[in-house]
Amino acid sequence: MSVRRSLVVGTVGLAALLATQSTALATPPGGVPPGQAKKHVEVSADAPLRDLGSAIGLRIGTAVNTGLLGEDPAYTDIVNTQFNSVTPENAMKWESVEPTKGTYTWADADELVKSAQRNGQLVRAHTLVWHSQLPQWLSKDTGATTTFSDQQVKDIVKKHIKDEAGRYKGRVWSWDVVNEAFNDDGTPRQSIFYKAWGNSTDYIADAFRWAHEADPKAELFYNDYNIEYTGPKSIAVYDLVEKLKAQHVPIDGVGFQTHLSTQYGFPNLQETMQKFADLGLDVAETEVDVRTAVEAVDPATDPATYTATPVDGLHQSTQEAYWDQTMKACLFVQRCVSYTVWGVADSNSWIPGVFPGEGAALLYDDALQPKRQYTVVQQDLALAAGAAPRRAGAGGR
Ligand code: G3I
Repeated sequence: MSVRRSLVVGTVGLAALLATQSTALATPPGGVPPGQAKKHVEVSADAPLRDLGSAIGLRIGTAVNTGLLGEDPAYTDIVNTQFNSVTPENAMKWESVEPTKGTYTWADADELVKSAQRNGQLVRAHTLVWHSQLPQWLSKDTGATTTFSDQQVKDIVKKHIKDEAGRYKGRVWSWDVVNEAFNDDGTPRQSIFYKAWGNSTDYIADAFRWAHEADPKAELFYNDYNIEYTGPKSIAVYDLVEKLKAQHVPIDGVGFQTHLSTQYGFPNLQETMQKFADLGLDVAETEVDVRTAVEAVDPATDPATYTATPVDGLHQSTQEAYWDQTMKACLFVQRCVSYTVWGVADSNSWIPGVFPGEGAALLYDDALQPKRQYTVVQQDLALAAGAAPRRAGAGGR
């Protein structure tokens, strides 16, 4: 770990630049992590990420595998000491909470929420309306078709949102209300939701209204991938949320998943997030990971020997640069209220199973040791000490 040095908030680094970007912000409905945003707080430059984030009001989160939380001591220790926000990687998805129609299985999600309360963490809840990981009784082909009528789908979606967001009312700070509603070419995804609402994206406004009714203080996000750069999908989402704001639909923010790969150029992330923020919305990086070509064995086929090592130093240093840029993009956008990594360690990342030959995408290696990427992110946060505190708000509503 780097040499320990003490920073007095208000004196160094990115702070001066960031301070000029201060804007008046609303009081957070979901509360703020303990100990954050106090003036003259001393934060060590090698403090845990959550402490460095708290000093500037930035939620530092991770996706959590509820099968490991509380079971794997080293994993659990990292989740609770390094992060002040947690997102259930799968436990709050529809197929997880209602595998049989009308029979709820809340145990894993409940456990995560209780753990967060015990550890002074906020819950970034994920996700209410998504075409993927739907229960089999609702759709057998990732949300393309269903045996229910249009009116039945509408009733089912409303009940699902009311039941799940209602269950966690007041106990989560935000919800990804609608996830991934657009294709990469900017056309609306032809999901069972789109079809049930008469081939229209009007289901999105209804979902936000129902979520708001169920949990009026939760901060409500639209969340998607490949919207980090200017392109048809990002433009389509921008047009959507601009329209929702004009219609006074209770949307508070947009989540940029930020699944990056070193084989592509770094997106104009800061500029894009600022454009959305200028609509009067909070923004967040919600699922950050940076994958690269690795000398790896697929953990699914050979977990014992899994090692995710970048193929060479150039790939490693590019990963570090990308992590640096994801954090700086958030720090330079005052309305970027949370930064969440999509998993703790390379050995529990979704990447190797979906992108064969790629991996090493997270901050900790498969032995749960912090990588250089961790230090890069930590140093950026330390340099931002003293910046005007950011606070998640009600998105202007
Ligand atoms: O729970 C079952 C288990 O019972 C079964 O034995 C096993 C066999 O494959 O599958 C298990 O379910 C898996 C589930 O994760 C829980 O581990 C699914 O197969 C697997 O597909 C699922 O993957 C998740 C993926 O979403 C589904 O699309 C990943 O863990 C999760 O990281 C990923 O997260 C998504 C975000 O929610 C939205 N944005 C993209 C991101 C990455 O795909």
